[in-house]
Amino acid sequence: MARRKRLLVVMGTRPEAIKLAPLILAAGADAGRFEVLAVRTSQHREMLDQVVGFFGLPILADLDVMRRDQGLAQVTTAILGKLQRLLADVRPDVVVVQGDTTTSFVGALAAFYENVPVAHVEAGLRTYDKRAPFPEEVNRRLISVIADYHFAPTETARLNLLKENVPAETIWVTGNTAIDALLLTLARAAPAAAAPPAPTLLLTTHRRENQGEPMRRICEAVLILLKAFPQLRVVCPMHLSPRVRQVVGPMLGAHPRVSLIEPLGYEAFVLAMNRAHIILSDSGGVQEEAPALGKPVLVLRDSTERPEAVEAGTARLVGTEVGAIVSACRELLTDPAAYRAMAQARNPFGDGHASEQILDVLARSPGESEWRGAAAGTAQAAALPAQAVLQAVIAAEAARSPASLPGVEPA
Ligand code: UD1
Ligand code: UDP
Repeated sequence: MARRKRLLVVMGTRPEAIKLAPLILAAGADAGRFEVLAVRTSQHREMLDQVVGFFGLPILADLDVMRRDQGLAQVTTAILGKLQRLLADVRPDVVVVQGDTTTSFVGALAAFYENVPVAHVEAGLRTYDKRAPFPEEVNRRLISVIADYHFAPTETARLNLLKENVPAETIWVTGNTAIDALLLTLARAAPAAAAPPAPTLLLTTHRRENQGEPMRRICEAVLILLKAFPQLRVVCPMHLSPRVRQVVGPMLGAHPRVSLIEPLGYEAFVLAMNRAHIILSDSGGVQEEAPALGKPVLVLRDSTERPEAVEAGTARLVGTEVGAIVSACRELLTDPAAYRAMAQARNPFGDGHASEQILDVLARSPGESEWRGAAAGTAQAAALPAQAVLQAVIAAEAARSPASLPGVEPA
């Protein structure tokens, strides 16, 4: 029988935590097959706290890298140094990363440097435009070069990986764990309030390539729609990035029919999607959730790595030009047939069992000792109560002067 596997799951941002929560909870409940250690880099702080609290995730270590409005290089170097030291001590059988953030890429890189196998959840998404989304398209391609287990959410993603010569026997099509999280949450959620009588538009925007002028145009389009449709209401849970807030706040904050609010907890956001008539978003995760909820989503981007939502008919790429956003919303607000055609619940991203399938593969994987060869064979046996090791690493970290860590400014 396969030996119990030690999984080190690395997460840094809100969407990673949402999509890894079902896997962490399922592995945690399966102590016969797994020991699961969840590490947060805290690339996000408050937005990650919301998810960790909601799902009750047992976090064993916090690398605490977030500094207000820091650059990509700072996040990268801060995570790499801290994570590599942690990995050297914990010696997991597999490091699990999700998606395409800086945390995911650096998590994979640190594991590679420590010769630990990498499992990539949500592998194979591509636009084939390396600047859209920036830097995520490059992050996920780099992770695909490093990863040993590629968990593709869809057949399209699997084909992308095959085109890049990723060995077929290392790819599994599992569905997206976003749907696991969504179904889990809907099952637990308080009964939804009745849909509001006035049409409601739910807006989220945060992508780096949309910051600045494109984000101004998005807000301008929303203001034009509010003028044209006096009943229309807009709900906008604003991302905590200062580069989002400095545009969206001043442009939409004063309008009496705009609710500009703090980021919603995941369950509240799912219920807000359910109550909205139209979703306007540049988010990746929302493109997966909206089809499952049967909510038309107008994607504020020129390309998408999630063509399945567009093919299913629930998502439409509208870009960031004012005219295109206004006319697409206007059509949905005035043409019931056009609205009905988009507002169909479909589920191209999985059936809610992605995490189970991923764990079944990881349970059968070779352990750390087989992976590293006989010379390293006793690592797991010699290791650890994991919690004690992690605490020691974090304590050592805390004792360091922050300025001595490369790229990390003192708080
Ligand atoms: C990051 C990811 C992006 C993902 C998004 C999810 C990268 C490069 N980008 O983008 O792929 O779609 O998360 O939301 O990995 N901030 C806070 N508190 C928080 C979160 C953020 O104050 O809880 C502020 C900080 O000033 C931070 C800034 O937002 O510096 C930007 O955060 P960052 O993680 O660099 O980029 P995101 O735009 O959030
Ligand atoms: N989300 C949330 N609260 C909000 C907005 C979004 O919980 O106020 C959830 C949403 O349901 C989805 C995820 O956050 O699961 C998407 O995160 P984001 O748009 O920040 O990142 P992306 O998916 O684009 O990487």
